[in-house]
Amino acid sequence: MSETTQKIVLVSGANRGIGAAVAAALARAGVHVLLGARTLEAGEAAAAPIRAEGGKVTVVQLDVTDAASVAALAGNLAADFGYIDILVNNAGVGLDYVPGLSAVEKMEQMLAINVVGGLRLTEAMLPLLEKSTAPRIVNVSSELASFGLRHDPSWGHHDKVMPLYAASKAAVNALTLGYAFALADKGIKVNAICPGYTATEATNFMPDRTVDEAAVVILQMALLGDDGPTGGFFNDQGPLPW
Ligand SMILES: NC(=O)c1ccc[n+]([C@@H]2O[C@H](COP(=O)([O-])OP(=O)(O)OC[C@H]3O[C@@H](n4cnc5c(N)ncnc54)[C@H](OP(=O)(O)O)[C@@H]3O)[C@@H](O)[C@H]2O)c1
Repeated sequence: MSETTQKIVLVSGANRGIGAAVAAALARAGVHVLLGARTLEAGEAAAAPIRAEGGKVTVVQLDVTDAASVAALAGNLAADFGYIDILVNNAGVGLDYVPGLSAVEKMEQMLAINVVGGLRLTEAMLPLLEKSTAPRIVNVSSELASFGLRHDPSWGHHDKVMPLYAASKAAVNALTLGYAFALADKGIKVNAICPGYTATEATNFMPDRTVDEAAVVILQMALLGDDGPTGGFFNDQGPLPW
């Protein structure tokens, strides 16, 4: 890839919420966005305002729990572009308070989407990331997974009880750290972030924080320079304890 080639990012779960805001912000930053969505219709609806602003966006079908979907995408991207620069593992769900499911069923679904889904996508995209001159992986985690913060009674979210979601994101953090070490010699920087408690469908639009505010730290980690960190966990205020 030459210095002047446009950077390419793949964002999972980009048809709404934080993922859609990340897609729009990266397009504004001049990155070609591959907007991952489970249905092309939902993806095209999210892509329309980005295109209207002049952003470059390609909608791609992506269900991270579906091995065939991920394999087909990897094959198409290899044929069409030959590389990607940035992977944002954003697709995720929090099911602790969903009625009608047992704790085991909730955990199994969250492991399948948040953990195995992100891992499947990462593994499929590694050959394409290895072709980039500045490859970056950003794993969207949550500070609810922080063991360090959980023990701090003065922490702002000390009252939040989502043990299953937190466990799934703790696994995402463990994978982040492990992959950062494993991929260091290939120059692939891997970081986990917490976007902050943000108004989306996932939170019933409860807090005031906007998806644009949530996207800021994801952009920072997606566009890291070569002197930037790897194997870290951050929010927009700086490093978070694991
Ligand atoms: N909002 C917060 O306060 C907050 C805080 C910390 C971390 N996070 C994390 O931020 C990320 C985005 O959350 P959000 O608040 O923006 O949630 P959201 O609005 O509910 O969006 C979730 C996205 O994930 C997609 N998705 C779900 N299952 C998928 C699958 N199997 N394959 C591919 N995509 C799938 C959804 O697609 P469909 O539209 O097809 O369902 C949707 O695009 C998640 O990882 C979440 O855990 C959020």
